[in-house]
Amino acid sequence: MQLRRPFDAHVHLRDGSMLTAVAPHTAEHCAAALVMPNLVPPVTTRAIAQAYQARIADAAPDAFQALLTVYLTDGIAADEVVAGFVAGDWVAAKLYPAHATTNSAHGVSDIQGLLPVLEAMAEVGMPLCVHGEVTDPSVDIFDREAVFLKTILGPLLQQLPTLRVIVEHATTAAAVDFVQHHADRVAMSITAHHLWWNRNALFDGGLRPHAYCLPVLKRETDREALVRAATSGAANVFFGTDSAPHLIGRKETDCGCAGVFSSPTAVATVAEVFDNANALAHLEAFLSLNGPAWYGQKPSEDRITLRKQPTTAAAELATPEGPVRIFRGGETLRYAVSAE
Ligand code: DOR
Ligand code: ZN
Repeated sequence: MQLRRPFDAHVHLRDGSMLTAVAPHTAEHCAAALVMPNLVPPVTTRAIAQAYQARIADAAPDAFQALLTVYLTDGIAADEVVAGFVAGDWVAAKLYPAHATTNSAHGVSDIQGLLPVLEAMAEVGMPLCVHGEVTDPSVDIFDREAVFLKTILGPLLQQLPTLRVIVEHATTAAAVDFVQHHADRVAMSITAHHLWWNRNALFDGGLRPHAYCLPVLKRETDREALVRAATSGAANVFFGTDSAPHLIGRKETDCGCAGVFSSPTAVATVAEVFDNANALAHLEAFLSLNGPAWYGQKPSEDRITLRKQPTTAAAELATPEGPVRIFRGGETLRYAVSAE
């Protein structure tokens, strides 16, 4: 089966030698990707974005297109956010509630304080990508996405009736319902690992740090709702790997990092999920068409080929900083992906 080359609507390419190690793995299967800004320091200015874009270009093949995002902070100026969008330095802004996840310490502590920025974005049609979890430690970690949608994003959409929003890495049936309810201007990305695993994977025979990500894996009923949404063909549901490499030593430790490095195996896994759901007819829409359309980009004219051919995934990626575990590494994948 041939498909247009996928669009990864959410990826962490990191920086430095990790960027050099991982960018080719996104570019191998994907024509383009929306690159997250949670670097240290984060991508908060046009100058930082331009320099990062140049480093990505050095790390990835010429044909690969990186679309950047700007990291919203409490003090960020609306003028800078909009100017970078108009000039093409970035295509969206990313909202991390402060301390919600990796490198989110500079994130937003008061969303109401950000209203002037969000109003300016709505005016120019610039989309807002949200890490949709509340950070209140009294809220159960499995409920943080649903509570965010209900108490923060719902009211925000009412305040800003034209703002376009992407619920990033959606993980719950509640998110599927929420996004469907606001389908005229709200979209969602879904990862391969949230389509593949439920939260039992975290405790499969023992504690599994390599299945730990944020938002954390949810129930089987949530996974099933995500599969139904992804395979529905709906235009506002698309592929975003959230591939997030961390060194094995930083995962297998007392307080391990959140993130699953999935770029080498995500496309094959999604194909397997769609095949299991008898929905291969909608695979190209999810992987390659809906994401770029939502961001106003053309879909790729190039193709990948998927063959039903059992393939053993490599267990790890060696990087100059140390090894990184690969999602489903060592397992047999039912599909093989080739680059044309
Ligand atoms: O699991 C995650 N890892 N979730 C995020 O939101 C951030 C990411 C990372 O940067 O490691
Ligand atoms: Zn992410």
